[in-house]
Amino acid sequence: MVAVASGPIVLIGAGNMGGAMLSGWLKSGVNGADILVIDPGPPPAMAKLIADNGVRHATSAPDGVEAAVIFIAVKPQVMEAVLPPLKPLVGPSTVIVSVAAGKTLAFIETHLGAAATVRAMPNTPAMIGRGVTGAFGNARVSDAQRSQVHDLLKVSGPVEWVETEGDIDAVTAVSGSGPAYVFYLVECMAEAGRKAGLKADLAMRLARETVAGAGELLHQSPDDASKLRQNVTSPGGTTAAALAVLMAEDGMQPLFDQAIAAARKRAEELAG
Ligand SMILES: NC(=O)c1ccc[n+]([C@@H]2O[C@H](COP(=O)([O-])OP(=O)(O)OC[C@H]3O[C@@H](n4cnc5c(N)ncnc54)[C@H](OP(=O)(O)O)[C@@H]3O)[C@@H](O)[C@H]2O)c1
Repeated sequence: MVAVASGPIVLIGAGNMGGAMLSGWLKSGVNGADILVIDPGPPPAMAKLIADNGVRHATSAPDGVEAAVIFIAVKPQVMEAVLPPLKPLVGPSTVIVSVAAGKTLAFIETHLGAAATVRAMPNTPAMIGRGVTGAFGNARVSDAQRSQVHDLLKVSGPVEWVETEGDIDAVTAVSGSGPAYVFYLVECMAEAGRKAGLKADLAMRLARETVAGAGELLHQSPDDASKLRQNVTSPGGTTAAALAVLMAEDGMQPLFDQAIAAARKRAEELAG
C-alpha cells in the first residue's frame, strides 16, 4: 500500500503510461479520492476507471490544490505547453515525478521552479505490471518523498535508483528501449526458422513462445541469465553450436555494445 502524504497525487496525462500507473495505484490500495487526474480527454477505459473508483478528474489544473505528488505522463513534445499551468499545484512539500523521455530536471525546474523532482524511465511492460523503472531525484527530494515515489513507481515493476541524471540516458538505452530489442529478437529467430525450412507462421509462433517462456523462466528463477543459459547447453550439442556463433568475437556482444551506445547517444541528443 502506497503511503499518501497530505494533498492529492495529481496525475497529468492518463494515456498508456499514466493509465498503467493509475490502474496500478488503485490495485495497490491507493484511495481513488486521493488521486486527481488532469487530462483534457482521457481514453474511454481510463474515463471508466476514474469514474468507477471515485478518482477526481479535471481538464486543467484547478485552483486551490497543493499536490503531494505531481506525476507527469504526457508526451515529451507537449511538456513545454503542459508544465507552466501546473505551477500553482506545486507547494513546499510537493514532489514532482516526470516520465517524459529526454526532459531534464533543469527543463522541469525552468517551468515549475525549484522543487523536489524525480525523473523516471519506465518501460512498456509497465502496461501489464511487469516493467522496470530507472529513477533519479534531485537533492531536494527528501527520504520520505523518495520512499513515496518509489512506492508509486513500483506498482509497474521493480524500481532502480541511479546515481546521476546522465545515467537515465543509459537506463533509457538498456531498459527503456529494451523491449523493442527483444521483439526484434523474436523476428530474427522466426526469420531464421523460416530459412531453416519451417512455415513462416509456425516459425513465428515458436520464436514468440520461446522468448516469452524464457523471459518468464528468467523472471521466476533465482538463477542469473548465464546460469540458465549454461543449464540448457550440453557440451557438443545443438545449443552449443548456435552459441558458438552468437558468442563469437564478432557475435552478439559487440552488436549490443553498438546498439546501446547508439541509443544512449540519441537520448543525450534529445535531452539537448
Ligand atoms: N509508453 C511507454 O512505454 C513509455 C516508456 C517510458 C516513458 N514513457 C513516457 O511517458 C509519457 C507518456 O507516454 P504515453 O505513451 O503514455 O503517451 P500517451 O498515451 O499519448 O498519453 C499521454 C496522455 O496525456 C494527455 N494529454 C495531452 N495533453 C495534455 C495536457 N495538456 N494535460 C494533461 N494531459 C494531456 C493525452 O491526451 P490526448 O491523447 O488527447 O492528447 C494522453 O491521454 C511520454 O513522455 C513518454 O516519454 C512512455
